[in-house]
Amino acid sequence: MTGEPVDSDMHIDLTGRTALVTGSTSGIGHAIATSFAGAGARVVVNGRDETRTREAAARIRDETGNPEVHPVAADVGTEEGAEKIISAEPDVDILVNNAGIFAPQPVFEIPDAEWRRFFEVNVLSGVRLARHHTPRMAGRGWGRVIFISSDSAVMPPTEMVHYGMTKTAQVAVSRGMAQSVKGTGVTVNSVLPGPTLTPGVEQFITSLVGDDIPFAEAERRFIAESRPTSLLGRLIRPEEVANLVLYVSSEYASATTGAALRADGGVIPTLIP
Ligand SMILES: NC(=O)c1ccc[n+]([C@@H]2O[C@H](COP(=O)([O-])OP(=O)(O)OC[C@H]3O[C@@H](n4cnc5c(N)ncnc54)[C@H](OP(=O)(O)O)[C@@H]3O)[C@@H](O)[C@H]2O)c1
Repeated sequence: MTGEPVDSDMHIDLTGRTALVTGSTSGIGHAIATSFAGAGARVVVNGRDETRTREAAARIRDETGNPEVHPVAADVGTEEGAEKIISAEPDVDILVNNAGIFAPQPVFEIPDAEWRRFFEVNVLSGVRLARHHTPRMAGRGWGRVIFISSDSAVMPPTEMVHYGMTKTAQVAVSRGMAQSVKGTGVTVNSVLPGPTLTPGVEQFITSLVGDDIPFAEAERRFIAESRPTSLLGRLIRPEEVANLVLYVSSEYASATTGAALRADGGVIPTLIP
């Protein structure tokens, strides 16, 4: 496999590939890991907590019938965590840097430590793993690196400017890394989900809109009032983001590299991200 074009038949088969998805105990990462397992990949599931990570891997095995789903608990926001996951899985073919944190805080009240924490967890986590894995993928002539960024990369959210900063940084890092492995069969891309219904976002919306109304109504209000440019008119489901990531991770996406790809429900109003 050298990254040559393949004919379109669009049956995505990842048999023989190992995929690491950081932050895959819940939300978007969990949906991505599930779609990879469903496509036959050997999948490494990750989260900070041993039990949660083990349980997430078991859920994916049950749901997909794929026994090759392995938990590695590690905090990828730290150097030690990165080393732990690299020594457990030194060679992966597909790396999805999905782990991320978000929390609203007025920009003039964010202390240095919080700016650093967001940068460590959302940006350096992916940089460290990609720094190890990407050259090794290039040596083998095939690989996929994907940074899960956000619509916030190009539309800085006023309520969490530090988060937006990290999501913009991921787009720049992934483009630069793609340039550094040109012609090797390895692609590096960022995927920009829009507002997606995950446990983290459910909590975020409830804290903004209140918990005295049914969640379906809170979702409708949140989209109408806080994300009015959404063309989808509802929250995206994690599986809808996973579908794009699965495609980008496949043989079919051999000509897509250095790109910022949207699964944003049209929330970004510009023609080009
Ligand atoms: N949901 C959205 O609307 C949306 C939109 C655009 C972009 N995104 C991006 O998509 C990614 C996932 O978001 P989500 O909404 O699915 O989040 P989520 O529901 O809060 O899940 C976050 C996942 O990351 C893990 N995690 C957090 N910090 C970690 C760390 N230091 N080390 C290892 N794992 C860690 C969590 O696992 P444990 O808690 O078990 O450790 C969990 O599995 C993030 O990068 C986010 O910026 C989300």
